[in-house]
Amino acid sequence: MKENGRLQDKIAAITGAASGIGRATAVAFAREGAKLVLADLQDKGLQETLAAVREAGGEAVVRPVDVSVEQEVKGLIDLGLATFGRIDILINNAGITGQTVGIEEQDGQDWLKVLEVNLLGAMYGIKHVAGHMRERGSGAIVNTASVAGIRSGAGGNAYSASKAGLINLTQTAACDLGGSNVRVNAVCPGLIETGMTKPVFDYARSAGKEAKLGSRCELRRFGRPEEIAAAILFLASDEASFVTGQALAVDGGNTASLNLPGMKF
Ligand SMILES: NC(=O)c1ccc[n+]([C@@H]2O[C@H](COP(=O)([O-])OP(=O)(O)OC[C@H]3O[C@@H](n4cnc5c(N)ncnc54)[C@H](O)[C@@H]3O)[C@@H](O)[C@H]2O)c1
Repeated sequence: MKENGRLQDKIAAITGAASGIGRATAVAFAREGAKLVLADLQDKGLQETLAAVREAGGEAVVRPVDVSVEQEVKGLIDLGLATFGRIDILINNAGITGQTVGIEEQDGQDWLKVLEVNLLGAMYGIKHVAGHMRERGSGAIVNTASVAGIRSGAGGNAYSASKAGLINLTQTAACDLGGSNVRVNAVCPGLIETGMTKPVFDYARSAGKEAKLGSRCELRRFGRPEEIAAAILFLASDEASFVTGQALAVDGGNTASLNLPGMKF
């Protein structure tokens, strides 16, 4: 039994596991006793995550996977089943930002790539694990969406649309699978320091604007990957046994108010 054993003997597959939120989730899951199937485009980052998981006392298999390619996602699910005999938890976490340009400069190819990774990637994962989870009569799926899927102002147009779509997919899949006791939820992170947001953080620090990072949140700060991993852990665990179809904002209160922090009238 590890830490509190909240995922003891569970098998969890995590995409986007080579960095940021995916890596923090892998380590948090390993500490709670889960065995892991880790996937990402970046093999080097996956190996680093594997080392971190082992250091936390965990066990994992890793597989380079492009989540926008359906057969590769199916291969990931098959790997989990072949290695551990079942998959209890799927975390669809891989994501890309795409362009941040004005509405008149939107590029269809960029939209397609963002939708393929952020939305179709998650759909493929749910599609290929659903039959297995239904058969077993249990399962938990968590999608990493974003505050960008709730309101404008946290990413480019395609990114925001992909995350809004992912929140909706979370609801429709939860309805499809609820009768089989398979839960589907989403987390919606606010600004978190990861590989994806490195350019933003690098720029702010180099320009002496670090204090502005996260200053639009009610908690007046940006978040850490571990704080998102904690929410994913809750939603994936049996503690959330009556929670499905929900999109949980983990954003320091960013989406709670239409005003800037402290500006209530
Ligand atoms: N960092 C933030 O502020 C923030 C906020 C809201 C939502 N998110 C979401 O969190 C998730 C994790 O991102 P992160 O912030 O940890 O960034 P990150 O860049 O550190 O991690 C994302 C990982 O996804 C992988 N990836 C990208 N495309 C892939 C593909 N086609 N197939 C497989 N793997 C792929 C990358 O290689 C990377 O390892 C993403 O879905 C992102 O949209 C992040």
